[in-house]
Amino acid sequence: MDYDKFIAEQIAYIKDTVGDATAINALSGGVDSSVVTVLGHRALAERLKTVFVDSALMRQGEPERTVEIFAGMQIPVELVDARQEFLSALAGLTDPEEKRQAVTDTFYSKVFARLVKESGARFLLHGTILTDIEETVAGIKRQHNILAQLGIDTQAAYGYSVLEPLKTLRKDGVREVAKLLGLPSEISQRIPFPGPGLATRVVGEVTAQRLDTVRAATAIVEEELADSGAFQYLAVLLNDRATGIRDNKREFGQIIVLRCIESTDARTATATALPWDKLNRICERITQMKDVNRCLYDMTPKPPATIEYI
Ligand code: XMP
Repeated sequence: MDYDKFIAEQIAYIKDTVGDATAINALSGGVDSSVVTVLGHRALAERLKTVFVDSALMRQGEPERTVEIFAGMQIPVELVDARQEFLSALAGLTDPEEKRQAVTDTFYSKVFARLVKESGARFLLHGTILTDIEETVAGIKRQHNILAQLGIDTQAAYGYSVLEPLKTLRKDGVREVAKLLGLPSEISQRIPFPGPGLATRVVGEVTAQRLDTVRAATAIVEEELADSGAFQYLAVLLNDRATGIRDNKREFGQIIVLRCIESTDARTATATALPWDKLNRICERITQMKDVNRCLYDMTPKPPATIEYI
């Protein structure tokens, strides 16, 4: 594919579609929404408003760091604190699809609808990629960001039209475009992180406390595996406990799963053959966390497993 041509075409598409109106987009710091932000900014300049919604489901320091990176590229990003709204919507839910639905609804119907209304924007730029569409249409899962493909009329339901400039690309294509757009490697090479964030990595109820646990474990895993070259690595908090011993006392503690996979496009994946020393070190650090006394390595390929747990 000729990615320079792709970039020129998408900028023209955004310009033509939005016309004299204004647009808004949500930046998550991932490569998809970052590429959309730069394309949109090149097409519309200050007529594009970019927001970063802190949903309480992000990784450690992620909201602040993302705003800082884009500020360095002269692209202003507004940080919106919606943590309490997401936590309230997720309270009491344990079913995976209900949790995804709650995140989608809170994002689109509440937080984003409000931000769009306040901004006066009639267009929303979104980083949907081809794999998201294929898996949703195939009924494998309801992705966070698919609306039109499910027959949902966003204009009628939410009051804005959605533009999806990346919907013909897979992840590897998006990374190529990111490089050509001059995004730093911290973004263009960033491992995937799902739209519903850490909610996909908490089995059972998503609470502020359980999110803190999985966030701390994620920070350890990302630090330890940053130079692994793996496609994606993550930590999951199970909804189960196991007996252990700490300070000579019996403890019924929490369980963290380590997942590290090789893949080219996330459609299929295999577990990385991590060195035993590395596994030991991660296990040691994870089980030093308060109330966590087991760390398991997930060796399951996709399929039959998916990469995330929800
Ligand atoms: P699964 O768990 O389906 O994940 O094997 C495949 C890839 O997609 C990411 N993922 C998502 N990305 N919105 C996204 O933008 C989502 O709802 C979503 N769910 C999963 C996942 O991290 C993996 O890279």
